[in-house]
Amino acid sequence: MRRDQASRPAKPEARIEPSPSRAQAIAQVAAYLVECGVDAGQAQDDARALLRAATGLSRLQLAMSPQAPLSDVEADRLSRYAARRAAREPVSRILGQRGFWTLDLTVAANVLDPRPDTEALVETTLALTEKPDAPLTILDLGAGSGAITCALLSELPAARAVAVDISPDACVATQANIARCGLSGRASVLRGRWGDALAGKFDIIVSNPPYVRAGDIAGLEPEVRLYDPTLALDGGADGLDCYREIVADLPRLLAPNGLVAFEVGSDQAVSVASLLGARGFSIARVGRDAGGHERVVAARRAPPRS
Ligand SMILES: C[S@@+](CC[C@H](N)C(=O)[O-])C[C@H]1O[C@@H](n2cnc3c(N)ncnc32)[C@H](O)[C@@H]1O
Repeated sequence: MRRDQASRPAKPEARIEPSPSRAQAIAQVAAYLVECGVDAGQAQDDARALLRAATGLSRLQLAMSPQAPLSDVEADRLSRYAARRAAREPVSRILGQRGFWTLDLTVAANVLDPRPDTEALVETTLALTEKPDAPLTILDLGAGSGAITCALLSELPAARAVAVDISPDACVATQANIARCGLSGRASVLRGRWGDALAGKFDIIVSNPPYVRAGDIAGLEPEVRLYDPTLALDGGADGLDCYREIVADLPRLLAPNGLVAFEVGSDQAVSVASLLGARGFSIARVGRDAGGHERVVAARRAPPRS
């Protein structure tokens, strides 16, 4: 049984009336989701995505014939999906996949569901990569689903990456997504604690480590608290434990003039920048997410003395 599963509130049954049209089924599921606590602004989109998954229809097919009836098999499948969403399971976990960057990734149980916010880390890293066609070496610390590794390798054609995670489930998910994206020849996955098992220097180090303050986890949305693993969230008392640990090891792992880029929580950019500054790294950019919040801190190691 999953963590917290026993404490989930019982939900009313999904009510899909017999032989509804596609449009009616979307309306019924959306109303049910709102009744179960899903944000009203999100429920309609979620219902539409679940209906498309239950029927196999494309967006266009659904838009062209919203009044067509749902078969019994489709209605049954949709009500099972709706019941899962009503228990606050994210749509991406119900579908088992999500779009990230330009890629379609598998979303696995016990592994952080990659978020659109993390695309800001990819974007900043690529913007600061001076020789994108060079045979760069990348280290992704806390790879999770492998989203960052896959996105960077997809854009940097000669780069190679090492993706590290302490969670066995994350390592399996990273390996699967690397293969799914056709990148197996350029990436290896290592189970371990940050860079402990590694020697040598990397041109680019990226990390989206756990950064939620331990005391804030209980107050997170159920979609996060119940479905993302605590190991991917818990950043210790002030949320900065993992940054401290990783930054302390950067002098050993980052090549001269190398680039390090972290995703940070929305109020952590200044703290993470000062951890990097204290070790002699110069801040190259503070990147923002689509909402304008400072969510990425990128820094460089001083170039070699000539
Ligand atoms: C916030 S998730 C990020 C996952 C992925 N990089 C992404 O952006 O979607 C943090 C990841 O760090 C991993 N992690 C936590 N502590 C770790 C440690 N000491 N060493 C290596 N990985 C760790 C977790 O298992 C989790 O997959």
